[in-house]
Amino acid sequence: MCGIVGYVGHQAAGPILIEGLQRLEYRGYDSSGIAVIDRDGVLDVMKREGKLRDLQAAITRMPNGGTGIGHTRWATHGQPSDRNAHPHASSSGDVIVVQNGIVENYRELRAELQERLDAEGRTWQSETDTEVIPELISREISAGKPLEDAIAYAIGRLRGANAIAVVHRGSPDRMYAARKGSAGGIVIGYGDGEMFLASDLPALLPHTTSVYHLEDGDIAAIDADLVQVRRGGSPTFQPTPTQVDLDPVAIARGPYRHFMLKEIHEQPRALSDTIRGRARLDPASALADDFDLADDTLRGIERVLVIGMGTSLHAAMIGRWWIEQIAGIPADFENASEFRFRAPLLGPSTLVVAVTQSGETIDTLGAMNHVRERWGAPQLVITNVDGSEATRQADASIIIRCGPEVGVASTKTFVGSLAALYLLACRIGHARGQLNEQELTDRLEQLLTAPSLLERGIRQAERCAEIAQVFGGASNFLVLGRGIEYPLAMEAALKCKEISYVHAEGYAAGEMKHGPIALLDQGFPVIALAPRGPLFDKMTSAIQQVRARRAPVIAVGDEGDQELAGLVDHFIGVPPAPPLLTPFSLTPVVQLLAYQLALTRGLDIDQPRNLAKTVTVE
Ligand code: AGP
Repeated sequence: MCGIVGYVGHQAAGPILIEGLQRLEYRGYDSSGIAVIDRDGVLDVMKREGKLRDLQAAITRMPNGGTGIGHTRWATHGQPSDRNAHPHASSSGDVIVVQNGIVENYRELRAELQERLDAEGRTWQSETDTEVIPELISREISAGKPLEDAIAYAIGRLRGANAIAVVHRGSPDRMYAARKGSAGGIVIGYGDGEMFLASDLPALLPHTTSVYHLEDGDIAAIDADLVQVRRGGSPTFQPTPTQVDLDPVAIARGPYRHFMLKEIHEQPRALSDTIRGRARLDPASALADDFDLADDTLRGIERVLVIGMGTSLHAAMIGRWWIEQIAGIPADFENASEFRFRAPLLGPSTLVVAVTQSGETIDTLGAMNHVRERWGAPQLVITNVDGSEATRQADASIIIRCGPEVGVASTKTFVGSLAALYLLACRIGHARGQLNEQELTDRLEQLLTAPSLLERGIRQAERCAEIAQVFGGASNFLVLGRGIEYPLAMEAALKCKEISYVHAEGYAAGEMKHGPIALLDQGFPVIALAPRGPLFDKMTSAIQQVRARRAPVIAVGDEGDQELAGLVDHFIGVPPAPPLLTPFSLTPVVQLLAYQLALTRGLDIDQPRNLAKTVTVE
């Protein structure tokens, strides 16, 4: 989704903005631009459709002004084009704005501002919703308002969630940033006689680890050596920056060809880090520290609802299994974007668990808001980003410790979310007396084997590459699973779609004969997730049905399972896992199959087309 950067200080802003935008490329974008202003108020705005390299190629002379803002755009209003790329200027040319989010009432605002434009014989320069913002600000300045008041007024007129950065020709040594609602974050980085701005920490980390996250309603005036924030009607204050401990090296790709591959390999570590200190034996405890829901609260819960989107929804589906089976309490999952527009029957005894690696997904935040406003049910968020909007909205958080995930496709954060859900199931089960000490110990001991299951799954990378070579030209895949492997079948299909652009459907194997089987023939490969477990025989029946339609079968099953290997065309062995732990043994293989398929097709794996890492628009 869109990215914002900004700089004010003693260096030339241009190269810093471009470098910052490069660090945000992983968010996904279709155009980019920068605006730089020098001491004399000379303003340069450069923007281009396409990749950052297209923008760089178009910049024949890098301006040397010391203040600037930049943006990577992910089109919502108006297609990707040079003119729709940010920054956007007021018709007067004085006010320059970049925005993340959506101005929901932009049509209304355009109509209101039209009269002014007509009177001046000017027209809108883009089809975007954003362009009304500089125009509103500029109109208020013309009417005599100080710049800061004009920005506050404009922000107040916008409906929706927005994060903006602003520069003005008349204030060449200052930039402004403002946040309204949860259109992703916006962070100020404190340097030595210089200040940085970004929608995401990775763009700041090479420069500083001293940061201030703008809160909802904040408007910041940012000079090279001073930040002043105004919040509502309160007096202006100078925020105290906090230190972040993210390691810039961790966001480099290292020896891996793609971030996605690196992050797949980091999964055992991400899982170990996530459960460290949270899965204790002798005496057994799950989530004993650093968890804000008391046993009394957990004992009062009658039902758990797990929500999320995309990969996080698939984690939620698996979490539902664990909560039912381990905690012995009714549990459901739901797509957050659908849930938020329903009127389900929740009550204060339902625990709502939101899974969101970014903590900023608008659909999930909307669902959390819906829960709070309508039922006041307790909410827990599982996320990789401490301080994200979801953590602010929730009553309690489990921060997974996966480190920055740069590839747009979620991999290690999926595994981290799974670990958190498993721990949560154990904690609820224990608090409610469903698990005694020994049973809790057994469950946690099993979880402690999960990093090794992941590691052994990752060793199948070569085998996945061989199979991807065979099926690199296939246009369709059906992925089948049953029980706890069904959500993984959906995750496998999502990964294939996301990064390989291949049509894939994840199905419950029992459902196949009720429709999808009609698709099958020699050219329609089927991936079957079939580890030994309670539903193994049902899976092999489904595989037989597929084979009878001559569709090629790739089975992922237990290492050394000769019976299964003999039944299918291609076999990938993963370490045998206890029945509830198969998501950990199978996950690397489904990710690597999709990765290898994308590789055979020569695709942009870390930044798939049309996708964004953090989805902050509806
Ligand atoms: C995962 O590979 C996708 N990029 C996407 O489905 C993602 O899981 C979804 O947008 C939810 O994101 P979140 O976890 O940040 O809420």
